[in-house]
Amino acid sequence: MQEQRDAHEASLDRLHRRLRTLCQCTMTFFQAESEQELLQSVCEILVAGGEVRLAWIGYCEDDAEKTVRPVAQAGSGLDYLERVETSWGERETGQGPAGIAARTGKACCVDDIRTDPRFSPWRVAALARGYASCIAVPLMTDGKSRGAVDLRGTLNLYSAECNAFDESAIEHYTGLAMSVAYAVTALRSRLAEDLAYGVTAVRASAERKRAEDALHQAREELAHVTRVTTLGELAASIAHEINQPLAAIIADANACLHWLEADRPDLDSVREALAAVVKDGDRAAEVITRIRGLLARASVAHGPCDLARVIGDVLPLVRPELERHGMILKTSLAPDLPLVRGDRIQLQQVLLNLLVNAVEASREVPPERRQLIVHSTVEYRDDGRWAVVGVEDFGVGVREPEVARLFEAFYSTKPGGLGMGLSISRSIIEAHRGRLWATANVNHGATFRFALPEMR
Ligand SMILES: Nc1ncnc2c1ncn2[C@@H]1O[C@H](COP(=O)(O)OP(=O)(O)OP(=O)(O)O)[C@@H](O)[C@H]1O
Ligand SMILES: [Mg+2]
Repeated sequence: MQEQRDAHEASLDRLHRRLRTLCQCTMTFFQAESEQELLQSVCEILVAGGEVRLAWIGYCEDDAEKTVRPVAQAGSGLDYLERVETSWGERETGQGPAGIAARTGKACCVDDIRTDPRFSPWRVAALARGYASCIAVPLMTDGKSRGAVDLRGTLNLYSAECNAFDESAIEHYTGLAMSVAYAVTALRSRLAEDLAYGVTAVRASAERKRAEDALHQAREELAHVTRVTTLGELAASIAHEINQPLAAIIADANACLHWLEADRPDLDSVREALAAVVKDGDRAAEVITRIRGLLARASVAHGPCDLARVIGDVLPLVRPELERHGMILKTSLAPDLPLVRGDRIQLQQVLLNLLVNAVEASREVPPERRQLIVHSTVEYRDDGRWAVVGVEDFGVGVREPEVARLFEAFYSTKPGGLGMGLSISRSIIEAHRGRLWATANVNHGATFRFALPEMR
């Protein structure tokens, strides 16, 4: 009775260990990132299970010797694998359990290494390392599943006891080896898919990058063209802006010449006139510098940008046009506008577009409504401070349902309008991580605002 119970307990214990081994191997099947990692883990788990002294997995090579090449191993006496040769061919080294299992696709067991003649080529080395019996089970899939064609190998286990591998052990390890083979196949196809996916993704992202670059380039070109066009429209007024200081310079210079002709020149007046010449010269030069900046094809790299300066640069360019249409310009500017990161020329262009639109919307309205207010404010939002610049007019106005359409490319209600001003402005502002929007005023006109986050 006691003996029977002991035998039962021993077999229960064995089953328990095998179950644990199986669970651990199954976990590995899901977790392994590479085939090598998977095979190595399986060998280690089997040795740790306590039933075997050495576990190794060999893959069958198609070389002349038909080598069974060890690809993973764990346990004691690992140098054994360096000493011995194993083959799956017909020669002597192919007559051991690994060779037979690989050739026949069935498990092959050596119950006693000391006596089994098939094991003679490896006997000495095996006994020296304490191996008494061994089993080799085929590592193959049935070839029906995807990617299975390539897999041919064996799982080889060595025990310190003779007759260690009974029917139930053979069944257990055969099943396990089959699972390993499926796991390897699954991993290979997963890796292949990942690779294919990776290549496609890389290709797609390279194409997207090219398309984005082209789009960016096209947008810059268009921005440049429309900038030049807008300036062209303003040219007459701007010329006036430059002619004024030039005329003053000529008048002052003539006065100086006149004074210097006198016997005792009035040097104070000369000095005063020359100072005025310098001032007017600077004024004209400034206008030219601003225009030249706006005409430049290449945009400046994004850098710290003071919107107060952007406003200061643009207003003188539209002021003559405002005067021409009898418009009054008011400003309400925040003194502490945060610095933003951006391209100064592009931001000038946005403001210029808004101002030109405001002038155009106010041309036909009664004189008392021909007013324009440029304001700047600081807004405190969850993500920090934002600089907001607005252009308010009291012109023809916009109807709320149509507001969104104004920003569409080629949407224009003007006879000669291209309908690109607002669309380009919005893409510029969005490229600056900001927002550009319009609202209808309560009484008359519209207000266009853009907001840009503080530079960090
Ligand atoms: N301040 C404004 N008040 C009323 N309507 C406006 C105002 N600004 C723009 N709009 C409307 O939005 C349309 C689109 O403006 P946008 O600047 O994009 O093009 P555009 O001025 O017509 O032509 P351009 O490309 O020469 O600027 C205008 O045609 C006009 O109908
Ligand atoms: Mg416009």
